[in-house]
Amino acid sequence: MSRPASDPISELIKGRGIGIDIADSALSDSVQQGIERVEQLLRESVRSDFDFATRTSLHLMEAGGKRFRPLFTLLAAQFGDPHADEVIKSAAVVEMIHLATLYHDDVMDEATMRRGATSANARWDNSIAILAGDFLFAQASALIADLGAEAVRDMARTFELLVTGQMRETVGVGPDEDAVEVYLQVIYEKTGSLIATAGRFGAWFSGADEATIESLDRIGRLIGIGFQISDDIIDIASPADESGKTPGTDLREGVSTLPMLYALADPDTDPRLRDLLSRPLSEDAEVYEALDLLRASNGLERTRATLDEYAGDARKELASLPDTPAREALSTLVDYVVARTR
Ligand code: IPE
Ligand code: IPE
Ligand code: MG
Ligand code: MG
Repeated sequence: MSRPASDPISELIKGRGIGIDIADSALSDSVQQGIERVEQLLRESVRSDFDFATRTSLHLMEAGGKRFRPLFTLLAAQFGDPHADEVIKSAAVVEMIHLATLYHDDVMDEATMRRGATSANARWDNSIAILAGDFLFAQASALIADLGAEAVRDMARTFELLVTGQMRETVGVGPDEDAVEVYLQVIYEKTGSLIATAGRFGAWFSGADEATIESLDRIGRLIGIGFQISDDIIDIASPADESGKTPGTDLREGVSTLPMLYALADPDTDPRLRDLLSRPLSEDAEVYEALDLLRASNGLERTRATLDEYAGDARKELASLPDTPAREALSTLVDYVVARTR
């Protein structure tokens, strides 16, 4: 049964989220409750006696965001007790760590727009953006401590991967390395690892069995890699009013994403595009030109085919889970990761 557009969960998830429809009304209600609890915990957790720290750290949290990771945690928790306090905490923690990485990423990328708002580095400056990100890491760490030493160790490992992913991307491809292989490693580390943790934590803290936890970890990894591939398509193909970010940021930063690597691998690619992809672009006119050429290249189409493969692998992994409304909703989540680039 599909729910009407005025249904509260659709509204909530559409207003501050990804707009997926959860067909089963009991599941929809459960997820809605979970999201409300996560939102409340997020707002309560990001607090300091020093008002400026609170204000700068709440800036992006209140600007919106899709809340994709906590939603995934809540769906993964449906294979156990989804209302456990630890589930809500783990969903909030994952969003806080994600948000902290956005503050830092915008400094690295010299980005000016995030979640449709002015990025923290542009609104204040790099130092404040770095410190606000650190503040969020600190608050998240305090919450993880409530989940136990094993969770702290687990998140520390994820954190390490987020950092090595960003470092590997910054350093670039070595002479003996395959650019696509490096790209896939980077996006697993910088994005897939945290989305895998979102799924693993949801299953784990709901009390699901070990096989289910491992399965949600693998699904998260596949969805997460797909999510970054679609983000890289969006940087080329979507306008700012849809993404809430400035298109062409990867071109400006000289980050070679999959559509670019595929375009470069095509012998028929326009030599002008090759030239534009060989260096970071600082002129707006060059960025727009490269975006036009990339949109017309077969790099985007080939990237969509790769995204479809990851989505297909995630669906295969989903098939090992019990056939429940939660599994169906997870399948809708996979569809969303593909459909968001269209
Ligand atoms: C942006 O993540 C960074 C990536 C890993 C691609 P999201 O696209 O989930 O950003 P928000 O949370 O909705 O702002
Ligand atoms: C970085 O990738 C993802 C993070 C882990 C923060 P991007 O640089 O492509 O993310 P956006 O596009 O700025 O959100
Ligand atoms: Mg960025
Ligand atoms: Mg991006």
